[in-house]
Amino acid sequence: MDIAQVGEEILATPATPVEAGYFSSLELTQFCDALLETMLRAEGIGIAAPQVFDPRAIMYVASRPNARYPDAPEMSPLLLINPTIVAQSEQLTKDWEGCLSVPGLRGKVSRPVWADVSYQDITGSRHEIKLEGFVARVFLHEYDHLIGKTWLDHIESASDIMANDVWMKKFGHSANKQ
Ligand code: NI
Repeated sequence: MDIAQVGEEILATPATPVEAGYFSSLELTQFCDALLETMLRAEGIGIAAPQVFDPRAIMYVASRPNARYPDAPEMSPLLLINPTIVAQSEQLTKDWEGCLSVPGLRGKVSRPVWADVSYQDITGSRHEIKLEGFVARVFLHEYDHLIGKTWLDHIESASDIMANDVWMKKFGHSANKQ
């Protein structure tokens, strides 16, 4: 699937909930599989449906180390449909993010340290989960895509933006050090 780049209307449009009748459908299952495949091919660690020009409230959080995120923690890809934030820490932490829809750039963004999240799985069953640290950051980044935002909306200073190539030179190989 094509990945929407910043400036596309859909990236600034709030997502619409997946309705009850669509859970467990072949269409939804195939869409979610294709969304994950698109994310993996692009070496993303998360993706949201609006990034592939689909307005539905669907995302993956799938942190794992790769060339774009050498220090990311490893987890099984988690599909979240109609996610909501139940609670989040007042304490914030600032760290670098990239986005498949904002190619070539990294931004340093303040996010809550943890978030309690409610979501539906592919069958429509609702779950609640506590996400912490980098995984919470990935979720909150993808959640932004479902409310029509990107990391660019959180930038506090131009010095918090870096070209990806420069970022890779500074931070990209830290996993291999020591
Ligand atoms: Ni993104």
